[in-house]
Amino acid sequence: MTATILDGKATSQIIQEEVAKGVRDLGEKYGITPGLTVILVGNNPASAVYVRQKEKKCALAGIRSETITLPAEITQQDLLEHVERLNADDNVHGILVQLPLPDHIDENTVINAISPEKDVDGFHPVNVGRLVIGEEAFLPCTPFGIQTLMIKNNIDPEGKHVVIVGRSNIVGKPTAVILMQKKAGANATVTVCHSRTKNLPEIVRQGDIVVAAIGRANFVTADMIKPGAVVIDVGINRLEDSTKKRGYRLVGDVDFEAVKEVAGAITPVPGGVGQMTTAMLLVNTLKSARKTAGKK
Ligand SMILES: NC(=O)c1ccc[n+]([C@@H]2O[C@H](COP(=O)([O-])OP(=O)(O)OC[C@H]3O[C@@H](n4cnc5c(N)ncnc54)[C@H](OP(=O)(O)O)[C@@H]3O)[C@@H](O)[C@H]2O)c1
Repeated sequence: MTATILDGKATSQIIQEEVAKGVRDLGEKYGITPGLTVILVGNNPASAVYVRQKEKKCALAGIRSETITLPAEITQQDLLEHVERLNADDNVHGILVQLPLPDHIDENTVINAISPEKDVDGFHPVNVGRLVIGEEAFLPCTPFGIQTLMIKNNIDPEGKHVVIVGRSNIVGKPTAVILMQKKAGANATVTVCHSRTKNLPEIVRQGDIVVAAIGRANFVTADMIKPGAVVIDVGINRLEDSTKKRGYRLVGDVDFEAVKEVAGAITPVPGGVGQMTTAMLLVNTLKSARKTAGKK
């Protein structure tokens, strides 16, 4: 059996079109254009690529986006002042501080300074707390993208055993919380594995849905997958490849070629979860702008 490919590019395109329609409606009814401001500190090349992708997708959906590029040497206090200014700006509905930040800046302090009402990355403790107790919240974009990719492809996690490998605050933990909620598109039984898990392959083999968020190329092998399981590969790893112009290729945390022969459905890397992450940022920014309209 060869797995169905869960096409993140095609699904994110549908989301982008839905957001574009929402943006037009908001403009017509309230004269509001959603606005996202990204703060980019320093010159991490990968971060610069991510930020450009976000700008491009915003433009396609009709969202106004602005990037504030700050030098790596900026003090934490100066960075916090930028965040404060954006918190107070009514034209800014979403604020995103691109991570990682330089070592002398405490990421948590900066994230905590963003207004929870504009925290479209969903990393602020208020949004994390709201998510845990099942209240309305901005969901972090990658886990939200994983859930949406499944829903849009008619995969219902309800009653399924979801095994997540990885417990980071940005992927593993929030994915577990989202999928265990007593809500449509969730209601799963969730197991979270990490580097101290014993008998990991045995546990992963029990998964009806397996989410790999580890950061190790080809970690999840075909023998760990129950035949017919859904496999969501969050990993983005560089493998040296002299046949490529740039000298490397991107691979996930799952041994795609072998696992696709066992799984029922699988996400590719690239073209899977990564595409969904940016799409959900658009969804969150529109949601934030809609809330502003509700207050008018
Ligand atoms: N597609 C996207 O949009 C997107 C977004 C975010 C991240 N990513 C990618 O997803 C991957 C994970 O990112 P992350 O930020 O969650 O990474 P992270 O913070 O480094 O967390 C990795 C997790 O994997 C676990 N782990 C590491 N080695 C393990 C092993 N040998 N056995 C079992 N568990 C192991 C770690 O366990 P411990 O907690 O015990 O250390 C940790 O919980 C990376 O490749 C990243 O680039 C992609």
